[in-house]
Amino acid sequence: MDKKFFHEFIERGLVKNNRDNTPKARHEEMPLPEKPYNPQAPIIKLTDPDILENPDVGFLELVECRSSIRSYTNEPFTINELSYLLWCTQGVKQMLSDRVTQRNVPSAGSRHAFETYLFIDKVEGLKPGLYRFLAIGHVLQPVDTSDDVKERMHSCFNKVKMFEDAAITFIWAANMPRMEYTFGGRALQYLYIDAGHVCQNLYLAAYTIKAGVCAVGHFHDYEINEALGLDGENDFVVYAAHVGKV
Ligand SMILES: Cc1cc2nc3c(=O)[nH]c(=O)nc-3n(C[C@H](O)[C@H](O)[C@H](O)COP(=O)(O)O)c2cc1C
Repeated sequence: MDKKFFHEFIERGLVKNNRDNTPKARHEEMPLPEKPYNPQAPIIKLTDPDILENPDVGFLELVECRSSIRSYTNEPFTINELSYLLWCTQGVKQMLSDRVTQRNVPSAGSRHAFETYLFIDKVEGLKPGLYRFLAIGHVLQPVDTSDDVKERMHSCFNKVKMFEDAAITFIWAANMPRMEYTFGGRALQYLYIDAGHVCQNLYLAAYTIKAGVCAVGHFHDYEINEALGLDGENDFVVYAAHVGKV
C-alpha cells in the first residue's frame, strides 16, 4: 500500500480534525434521504413489506451455509421475491424525521447514503433493463430499458459470465454528501463499511429463498458511473452483487 495515500486517507478522517468541520457542525441543511426521482418515469409497485412471507430457516444454517454462488439457473424471480430482497437490504422501517431513515441494515449515523440500482434480467412481469429502487416508497422506477443496456452493463462488469446468467444485479451507489453531512472527511471510510452490511443481508436473504449471490467489487468505475448517470464525485458505485436462482 502506498504509505502516503494511506496517511492522507487517515489524516482526512481523523476525528479530532473533523469534529467542527462538517456540514452538520456548521448547521447547514441536511441532505435529502433519497435522491430525487424522475417524475416522468412510471412507478412500479412492489409487494408491501407487511405481507412478505417469513421463510423458516434456522439461524445457524443461514450463517454456516452462506457462500458465494456464481452460476444460476434460468428461473425468474417473482415480484414478491424481489420485494423481499430489497426490503432486507435497504427497506425503510421508519422515518425518524423527514430527512432521516431507519432501515433494516445499520448505517453510520443513520445516514443511509446508498441508492440501489438494479439490472433486472429475469423478474416476472418486468422488462429487462436498469431500474432504481426508491426505498422510502418501496417502489421501482425504470432507468434504462433500451435494447443494448444489457451489453453495456456486461462490459461494466468486465464481461463476466455470472452477470450474463444472473436474474438480478444489485448495484449500490453512494451519495457522498449524505454521509459527509455528519462525518466530513471520515465519510468515505463509513460508506465502504456500510456497504458490507447491505450485501451481507442480501446473501442471507437470498439463501432463504433458494437463490445464490456473489458480491462484486470488480467493475469499471468510470463506465458504470456513466451508465447509471452518476457524476463519479458526489455519486458513485461502491459495490454490487449478482443474484440468481440455484
Ligand atoms: C468486498 C468483496 C468483493 C468481492 N468481489 C468479487 C468479485 O468481483 N468477483 C467475484 O467473483 N467474487 C467477489 N467476491 C466474493 C469473494 O471472492 C468470496 O466472498 C470469497 O471467495 C469467499 O467465499 P464465500 O463468500 O463463498 O465464503 C467479493 C467479496 C467481497 C466481500
